[in-house]
Amino acid sequence: MVSIAELPKHVGEKVQLQGWLYNRRSSKKLQFLLVRDGSAMVQGVLVKDEVAESLWDLVDGLTQESAIRVEGEVREDARSPGGVELGVTGVEVISGSPDYPISLKSHGPEFLLDHRHLWLRSKRPQAVLKVRDEVTFGIRDWLHKEGFINVDSPIFTPNACEGTTTLFETEYFGSQAFLTQSGQLYNEASAMAFGKVFCFGPTFRAEKSKTRRHLTEFWMVEPEVAFMGLDDLMTLIENFVGALVARVLENCAEELKVLERDTAPLERAVPPFPRLSYPDAAEILRGGDTGFEDGGDFGSPDETELSSRYDRPLLVHRFPSAIKAFYMKEDPADPKLSLSVDLLAPEGYGEIVGGGQREESLEVIERKIKEHDLPKEAFEWYLDLRRYGSVPHSGFGMGIERAVSWICGLGHLREAIPFPRMIHRLSP
Ligand code: 4AD
Ligand code: MG
Repeated sequence: MVSIAELPKHVGEKVQLQGWLYNRRSSKKLQFLLVRDGSAMVQGVLVKDEVAESLWDLVDGLTQESAIRVEGEVREDARSPGGVELGVTGVEVISGSPDYPISLKSHGPEFLLDHRHLWLRSKRPQAVLKVRDEVTFGIRDWLHKEGFINVDSPIFTPNACEGTTTLFETEYFGSQAFLTQSGQLYNEASAMAFGKVFCFGPTFRAEKSKTRRHLTEFWMVEPEVAFMGLDDLMTLIENFVGALVARVLENCAEELKVLERDTAPLERAVPPFPRLSYPDAAEILRGGDTGFEDGGDFGSPDETELSSRYDRPLLVHRFPSAIKAFYMKEDPADPKLSLSVDLLAPEGYGEIVGGGQREESLEVIERKIKEHDLPKEAFEWYLDLRRYGSVPHSGFGMGIERAVSWICGLGHLREAIPFPRMIHRLSP
């Protein structure tokens, strides 16, 4: 048995492969089978005059997504994917697939999402999820080479990291627990142990709004570095994102073609990225028609307006302290501002990275916890990090689906994750 991806190594040989029937076309004299096995797709050809009638009839009755074993001779064919096709000499049905619900004609998004468990077999989701795989593998590879250690954070937690409005609460043996919104607080502990760390896992936010940019369950990679300030953090972010985009361009050309992605904006995503402070951004937005409120967080029209002024991803830094989480360090030059940073992707994709320098002073962070009305007891362990050898440190989180969505040019985040979870979707 060989995999379809390996066929080019077997030109001139007779092989056996197994997979699913993606599509079949036939004329009086010829039948073309498109067979996929997950590794790739190959076209099998039957010539009526050259095969037994029983084989011809069996193939003639095959329906989409039937599981089959196919025997045939591998022939060079410049027009076919992978440069080969298969002269079919035998087919065995492993199991049938009558009335497969997803035909190759187009379906509406809700129908496809309801059938996500089957839709995953189609070309487009496969292309997106292969890019996702390249991104997640690339993240681990790049961070590992840069000396980061993977130390993961828990999913059940007593702490609200990103405010209390989007917490998923659950009962935990008689006490209250939350699903993590971010691994950051634990990551800070890990950074004090290992210096350069990252956690990488699912995170949860009860996002009650229905937007194309919000999931309730999404994956985040969060690097955290001891003895790092905001400027170096911005350099880390741009190098990290630049390397990931370059990696996808190099290894996923086929997938980007399937997705009809214009790669020009990706090719321009080369560091250094422009850096714009919040006050300067506000200056640009003030008086515009994006609905920007001075001192407030950016809405998606604001992000689009700002990023449209640059030819590559944009780093916006120093958001007002008032709209940022309790752990953000205040800018010593202006405590109304925080040492925070967002990376805005081009083409209207908006924020894909959020991070900043953390407050390292025990007194200040105790005050912040109070101001944010958070329960101090739950944060005692976190305060220990400020009691025992506290140092300046910084980190960021990149939402995997946001990044993949931009890289693939998707219209909605839900396509960037195998089984999306949104306010009105828990199934399949
Ligand atoms: O900006 P956020 O809220 O930052 C944090 O959670 C920090 N604690 C991270 C850190 O510094 N370690 O979220 C980080 C990123 C966003 O930039 C976005 O890419 C993604 O997480 N994100 C979401 N992705 C999908 N659906 C949602 N509802 C998301 N909320 C945030
Ligand atoms: Mg953010």
